[in-house]
Order: sequence, then structure tokens, then C-alpha cells
Amino acid sequence: MIYKNEDFKNFGFLKIEISKEIKDNLVNEILKLKKEKEAIILAHYYVRDEIQKIADIVGDSLQLSIEASKTNAKIILFAGVNFMAETAKILSPAKKVLLPDLNAGCSLADSCPTEDFKKFLEKHPNHTVISYVNTTAEIKALSDIIVTSSNAVKIVNSLSKDEKIIFGPDKNLGDYVNSKTGKNMILWNGACHVHKRFDLNAILNLKKLFPTAKIIAHPECEKPIILIADFIGSTAALLKFTKTDNSDTFIVVTESGILFKMKELCPDKTFITAPPTDENCSCNDCSYMKLNTLEKIYLCLKYELPEIQLDINLIKVAKKSLDRMLELS
Ligand code: 13P
Ligand code: SF4
Repeated sequence: MIYKNEDFKNFGFLKIEISKEIKDNLVNEILKLKKEKEAIILAHYYVRDEIQKIADIVGDSLQLSIEASKTNAKIILFAGVNFMAETAKILSPAKKVLLPDLNAGCSLADSCPTEDFKKFLEKHPNHTVISYVNTTAEIKALSDIIVTSSNAVKIVNSLSKDEKIIFGPDKNLGDYVNSKTGKNMILWNGACHVHKRFDLNAILNLKKLFPTAKIIAHPECEKPIILIADFIGSTAALLKFTKTDNSDTFIVVTESGILFKMKELCPDKTFITAPPTDENCSCNDCSYMKLNTLEKIYLCLKYELPEIQLDINLIKVAKKSLDRMLELS
């Protein structure tokens, strides 16, 4: 049977049977296929623990973009979400880039439709357009510079004082960068469904229960949370902080997948996940990141599908803003 990308999107990957023998030995089978096909597995800190364990590199958006731009592997399997795999394809267009589930999107990227963003840009001519990496390839092509949460402040600070800037799509990150740089960037009103749901009062109550705990937050969180946080940073920066800071307890205000690495790096420290507004839902899990499973990774490597496919002209234009980011990082 010859499959196509669409088969995996429309019918769901797991309709293809995996034999019991392979299921019982899934990790080894993945590692075997990875070697045979000269593939590399890049994984974000938010994916399931068992995937982080088998990945060649686990990182934040910036680290993973850098790795994708310099790897010698023939295939990049991206255990993450669509915009991350698209970024890898733009930076390494000659390579085959696979995403285990094409439905792994991003609510922040979705909050910025291309046509609406174009109109927004038309309303503010003569502005430098800076976009967060959590965007589609089309939005990257409309941007002058891409940033991630680990280099946004540095990159904005590197521009001239009077440069007029539009920042999209994350309003919370944009607000945070404005506060750190003293700039007055015009912000697109987008947000991430995970980070906007954390409950300030529940976090303050946790702090009463654990008074010596440090509150650490991702800059995609809403302003009231940023204001009470002891440390704010990208996933990689949060990890580094928990490793080097002398506190032994942390209230972690970001997607819960990061706790795996935190506990692995500091087994003697205590990490508490911050509660979302609705205590009955696991809203501090990114449902898109969690679409990645070992079964899908196995099938993805076996069939080399689903593959990220982007128009070559789109790649050329979008690459300019990503290259600019890599130069300035
Ligand atoms: P990082 O760049 O900090 O890894 O963040 C990516 C992301 O999607 C956060 O929601
Ligand atoms: Fe996108 Fe939010 Fe998931 Fe990050 S956590 S990938 S911003 S939906």
C-alpha cells in the first residue's frame, strides 16, 4: 500500500495496524529505523516524557531551529507542532521534514490569519515587522525578523531606538518585550490557549502553601502572572534557572511537559504545576504537543509520512526573516 500525506491527516495514523511484536518493542524499533534512514529526532520540552527520552535533541524553539539549520541527517523528524516543523523545513529545504501528526497545530499561530495580518500591516506602514516563531510560514514571509521567547528582548534591543515596530502574534510576549526594552511596539492581539488559562489566585494560594517556592513563568502568560513571577523566560531559560537557583521548590507556570526535564536535571528539587482556571481540565497541557506519540513516530519513520511540504518561493521569502533571527541571536 502506498500512502500519501492526506491519508494520515484524514484517517488518522493509528488506523494502520502495528503488530504486537513491534508494539512490545517500540523504542528499539524506532531507534533501528532512525539509524537505517539516517534520521534525527528533534523534540520540544512539551512533548510526552517517553518521546523526550528517545529524542536526539530536546530543546526550546530557538535551540531546535539552530539544530534544524545545521544537521547532516537526511530526515528531520520533528516531535513538536506544525510551526516548528515548518521552521525546520524553511531552514533546511533540501531535507525531508516529518511531523508525526499534521493536526499538531498551535493556537497562537492560529490566532494570526494571513489576510487579517496583511490588513493590520497596511494600517501601519513603515514599521519593521517582528514575528514570534509561533506563526505559519506565510506570516514569516510577511515579517522582517523572527524571534523566539529566548531572544526577543535581545533582538528588539539591537534595533535602533527610533525604529517603529509591529509585533505579532503574541500580545503577552509583546507586552513583556515592551516592558523590558522601553519600546512601544504595536501588538497583534493573539494568545496561546494554554498560557492564558493559568489562574492568578490559585497560584497565589499555592505560594501561601509553599512560601519559599519561586514562581517561574513563560512570557506567553498574562500580565498579572508576569508581574508576580520571580523569574520569566523561555522553556530553556526556565530549565537553566531551576538548575542554578538555590531554591528547592518551584511553581512552574508553563506547559506541564517541561516538568520531565526539570525533574531529570534536579531530582532533589520539588516542581509544582500551576493550576489553570478550570481545575477540572488539564488545560496546562498543550493538546497539540500531546498528539505526538511513540506509535505515530514509529509509523512516521517507517512510511516517511506525513511530510512537511512548502512552496519553494514561500520558503525563500520566509527564510530571510529566520536567517535574520539566527544572525542576531
Ligand atoms: P519556547 O521557545 O520557550 O520553547 O516556547 C515555545 C512554545 O510554544 C511555548 O508555548
Ligand atoms: Fe502553541 Fe501554546 Fe502549544 Fe506553545 S503551548 S505550541 S504556544 S498552543
